[in-house]
Amino acid sequence: MAAPVVARVGGAKPGAQVILDVEDLSVDFDTEDGVVKAVRGVSYQLRAGEVLGIVGESGSGKSVSSMALMGLLPRTATVSGSVRYRGTELLGMARQELNHVRGAKIAMIFQDPMTSMNPVHRVGHQIAEVVRAHEDVTRHQAWDRAVEMLDRVGIPNAPERARCYPHEYSGGMRQRAMIAMAMANDPDIVIADEPTTALDVTVQAQILEALEKVKAEFSSSIILITHDLGVVAGMADRVMVMYAGRAVEMGSVDAIYDGPRMPYTLGLLGALPRLDADGNERLVPITGAPPSLVNLPPGCPFQPRCPLATDLCADQEPALLATDDSNHLAACHYSASLTGEISPDEVFEVTSADATLGAELAAGASAVASAVASSAASSVAEAEPIGAAEQANSPVEGPE
Ligand SMILES: Nc1ncnc2c1ncn2[C@@H]1O[C@H](COP(=O)(O)OP(=O)(O)OP(=O)(O)O)[C@@H](O)[C@H]1O
Ligand code: SF4
Ligand SMILES: [Mg+2]
Repeated sequence: MAAPVVARVGGAKPGAQVILDVEDLSVDFDTEDGVVKAVRGVSYQLRAGEVLGIVGESGSGKSVSSMALMGLLPRTATVSGSVRYRGTELLGMARQELNHVRGAKIAMIFQDPMTSMNPVHRVGHQIAEVVRAHEDVTRHQAWDRAVEMLDRVGIPNAPERARCYPHEYSGGMRQRAMIAMAMANDPDIVIADEPTTALDVTVQAQILEALEKVKAEFSSSIILITHDLGVVAGMADRVMVMYAGRAVEMGSVDAIYDGPRMPYTLGLLGALPRLDADGNERLVPITGAPPSLVNLPPGCPFQPRCPLATDLCADQEPALLATDDSNHLAACHYSASLTGEISPDEVFEVTSADATLGAELAAGASAVASAVASSAASSVAEAEPIGAAEQANSPVEGPE
């Protein structure tokens, strides 16, 4: 089945200017095993001051899609589509021009600061060099900026700490120094790729606090990449869920958390401990693994793991389309059935420890399954998309 129609959605801040417009972005890697279709037709817009969370399991294309817009992929990558920063196309831009955009306009924070920091230079020096690469300032002024930035991200005694080498920092301090480095030129956009993954929970909280500060004090937009929906909950305005190289759900944080319209997102939520839980909720894992991105079979890539899958799912990959909320998109043939108060454990099987609740769950699952089955029947009969989705599931253009 050909790649589905790609719908696009505007930001949660409708008045704000679109500063990044990603359209139908695809990335293929030529490998010995074949062509890896790492990113498949991803489109989104980022508005000034907005925080977009990109969430998905390992290998879903979160990093590759972001590296593509920074021009940071190896030569084996073939990138297509369009990435416009304030109206200027970045794909195919000359290296020197792109270098100017990178760092000064769009900065990136990586998961492991040790790989992006030079171990033989003082932290303050490295931040000062980033400042001097993009601004005509003296060494002294650049050093002062470096110290100021370290202070702003919460490094204690910044004037002295700026003289330390990366290995003299703790993991959390190094990550904050990376944030300071990214913010040194007051970029328009900061891409934070798993900024908290390798850190313990307390330090994670400190990093999120530092990012919150960035959000509050600088006018930068943030793309926050993580495999953890919990991390984006407190910070993001909108969320894009990725699976097998595609965006499979996109919408405001509230829409995604309160009413996911794609089983994969529902499954991600089921695996997430909730602060508002009353103690009886169970964590519901999604079993199985994502598909290989070489020779991806036809149909919905989530089909082998999806409890709601039908024959239609094995045959046709669903397009990412508007639900009944034009700013909430989902890629599922049965997104119209996933309305109301469906909890993840009604759809996904729970662990054996919960076996005593089997009958109750089976009842819940069969209620959802029968809703899907009747939708499937109507879709076969009418050879059209189902129910309410008929009206709502039409490709939309986001507001400019
Ligand atoms: N240089 C490369 N050559 C071939 N395949 C690659 C290359 N880089 C990434 N891939 C593949 O592209 C796909 C997407 O990778 P990506 O790094 O974007 O995943 P991710 O969502 O960021 O995962 P993680 O959460 O583990 O960081 C994966 O299947 C990965 O193996
Ligand atoms: S299209 Fe089918 S397999 Fe894919 S998520 Fe929806 S119900 Fe599941
Ligand atoms: Mg990654």
